Amino acid sequence: MTDTPKQDRVLIFDTTLRDGEQSPGATMTHDEKLEIAAMLDEMGVDIIEAGFPIASEGDFEAVRDIAKLSKNAVICGLSRANFADIDRAWEAVQHSARPRIHTFIGTSPLHRDITKLTQDEMAERIEATVTHARNLCDNVQWSPMDATRTEHDYLCRVVEIAIKAGATTINIPDTVGYTAPRESAQLIRMLLERVPGADEIVFATHCHNDLGMATANALAAVEAGARQIECTINGLGERAGNTALEEVVMALKVRNDIMPYTTGIDTTKIMGLSRKVATVSGFPVQYNKAIVGKNAFAHESGIHQDGVLKNAETFEIMRPADIGLNATNLVMGKHSGRAALRAKMKELGYDLADNQLKDVFVRFKALADRKKEVYDDDLVALMRDSSSDAEHDRIQVKFLRVICGTEAPQSADLILSVDGTEHQVTAQGDGPVDAAFNAIKALFPHHARLQLYQVHAVTEGTDAQATVSVRLEEDGKIVTGQSSDTDTVVASAKAYVNALNRLLVRREKTKPEGDLQSA
Ligand code: KIV
Ligand code: ZN
Repeated sequence: MTDTPKQDRVLIFDTTLRDGEQSPGATMTHDEKLEIAAMLDEMGVDIIEAGFPIASEGDFEAVRDIAKLSKNAVICGLSRANFADIDRAWEAVQHSARPRIHTFIGTSPLHRDITKLTQDEMAERIEATVTHARNLCDNVQWSPMDATRTEHDYLCRVVEIAIKAGATTINIPDTVGYTAPRESAQLIRMLLERVPGADEIVFATHCHNDLGMATANALAAVEAGARQIECTINGLGERAGNTALEEVVMALKVRNDIMPYTTGIDTTKIMGLSRKVATVSGFPVQYNKAIVGKNAFAHESGIHQDGVLKNAETFEIMRPADIGLNATNLVMGKHSGRAALRAKMKELGYDLADNQLKDVFVRFKALADRKKEVYDDDLVALMRDSSSDAEHDRIQVKFLRVICGTEAPQSADLILSVDGTEHQVTAQGDGPVDAAFNAIKALFPHHARLQLYQVHAVTEGTDAQATVSVRLEEDGKIVTGQSSDTDTVVASAKAYVNALNRLLVRREKTKPEGDLQSA
């Protein structure tokens, strides 16, 4: 792969681990980030934005380790427009065979007000910081944050300065998801026409989805000459998210007749990555999400089913196998062995090491004893729990029994292990879930606020597992916990405890002074 794409080759820059992880509640652990990076690398992503090294020690270590381990992709670290940030990003990415420093500053009038820099002062800062980055690394990306709301003359001026200072990629962010396809294309065209040297660098497009146009805006930018799309798996990202990788990649593949551009993505890996990111971020994929939603290939109505059976092309514009979705939802049961489980998990995108397989197999057997048929989605839910119930979690649910009835209050008997010591309590509440949560609060007092409690059935039937998501907020830090069980109350208690464990990890992370969004 070369960093300067041929005319029709579009580079895929994945920022799931940076912009995606910045999404409130989507915090990932170090190991989870490494696993996702390895999968992105294997899928053929050209550039992985692995994190924001100065943001915390944890971010730094993740970017550094991804840089050391990744085999093919360029590894990129984000930095604001100051030397300390850039040095820290370089310290982390220099371990990669193909490092990149990405530095940004908000250039729109609103951002210039925040940083209290005049146009000239900001221009000087851009020249100095891009030059500094380029002295460290020969692959430098520069972004004028909020580019779509920056005056055109000023945007041209600063893009030219960044190119002259050595930027090899210029990224044009639609930071607040404000632009629309025609305007997105015009902006790239305008820069290509007006900025000297523009044809020697790569223009990137970075769109947010606040008006639901992130995919359309990115594709329009490509048609106008951008040759790098910044995107995330499942469209994860701040607020309404970023351009979804699976959407742009499949759009370019399926409609190559009208958008004749190629990517290096092995699309059969899409589904595995989608499941993985949903699992570790705690952000479930909406059922009707394009490409990776549960219903994206489901044909419920009689007319559709009949048509698809006769000729799949009647209602399907792509084959499930193109994104790594198996046509058969091979059902597993209590007689299925380890080898079958390993093979099935691999199909679902989980390459299990022997010790992981041992753990998942025990859980699978326990589930199969309670549930006659174990479907793909049950196994995905099982995987989510195998990381959330890990032995190293400081808080673990050891026992839970609730007493329910038509008469309130309901009560919950709970044993929690906290840092290896077991504690027991009986608590009451308005309903079994409230009683269980009150019991957890009694045994592990905290002031985190419950922001979201959500339950959904993993499969059909009264013996279906419930997946519960719990989002907690403490001093502005947001974490999401998830768990699944055939018993909704048990899943709820475990999801709450999973969120608390994530909060404890979060508390240990140290943040630098100041606002990370501004330069
Ligand atoms: O949305 C945005 O502007 C960003 C920049 C840091 C590139 O994520
Ligand atoms: Zn962004």
